[in-house]
Amino acid sequence: MSLRVCRTVAEFRAACDQVRHAGARVGLVPTMGALHSGHMALVDAARARGARAAITIFVNPTQFGPNEDFARYPRPIERDLELANAHGAELAFVPSVEEMYPPGEQTRVSVAKLVDVLCGPKRPNHFDGVATVVTKLFNVSGPCVAIFGRKDYQQLQVIRRMVRDLLLPVEVVGHPIVREADGLALSSRNMYLDAAERAAAPQIARALSAAVRGFAAGFRVDYVELVGESELEPIADEVTLAGSALLAVAAFLGRTRLIDNVVLGQDPAPVPEEEHG
Ligand code: PAJ
Repeated sequence: MSLRVCRTVAEFRAACDQVRHAGARVGLVPTMGALHSGHMALVDAARARGARAAITIFVNPTQFGPNEDFARYPRPIERDLELANAHGAELAFVPSVEEMYPPGEQTRVSVAKLVDVLCGPKRPNHFDGVATVVTKLFNVSGPCVAIFGRKDYQQLQVIRRMVRDLLLPVEVVGHPIVREADGLALSSRNMYLDAAERAAAPQIARALSAAVRGFAAGFRVDYVELVGESELEPIADEVTLAGSALLAVAAFLGRTRLIDNVVLGQDPAPVPEEEHG
């Protein structure tokens, strides 16, 4: 295996320094392991930019909530290292929790407004954990180009903001989402799905596809909103939609304003499923 595995901060820092001293660029790919083709696309992208790919594999405890899957998150480290090696990664940084969080640590990096929406309210402190560990990884690697996937779109924007705000010597690159043939976005957590759940999962990508095709049809969207079906109140950040809700759209075609809606959880789909071929 030509991949060099570093387990301490000092070793990985020295290895990245060496890459730069040789006149090359470090192409950093931060991950939590359980690697799949989405992660590998980031390694390939780093190399395609002429950088020496350095993958980090660290299941970061501070970005998991107390009822989340930190303990059971998959950690197939030997297989991960083989995959990284096969994709031409040059360095792997596989630190322990103690190495990344020194005893008595009490410092967090926190981005403000960007975390008030989407996943932020659902996962308190999650993005502080991400921003903190990514800052540490950048501080260990030193100047580099860092590749992140657009699947975690909010994470990417949080990291871009943090890099600008903290004047970090890092070029952040966003990479397109890698999907299964049926549209499901690759994720280390897909392995938690049972057969029925796995069969249902591509519905997210199909719904997004319908939105893309609808938008491309030339509409000027006036609003797309999800509200309570009785009081029409906004669905609050803290609410997880289990019952029913009104999904309502208003959009212009030329000078004509069209409206339509469905009550999710009550109405059938207004048009039959599209054929995919
Ligand atoms: P992880 O979920 O392992 O993802 C590592 C990187 O791979 C992220 O940049 C993520 O956006 C990207 N990625 C995952 N699935 C992808 C897909 N289907 N297509 C394209 N890119 C994909 O994100 C994290 O780890 C952590 O939060 C981390 C940034 C490493 C900090 O701990």
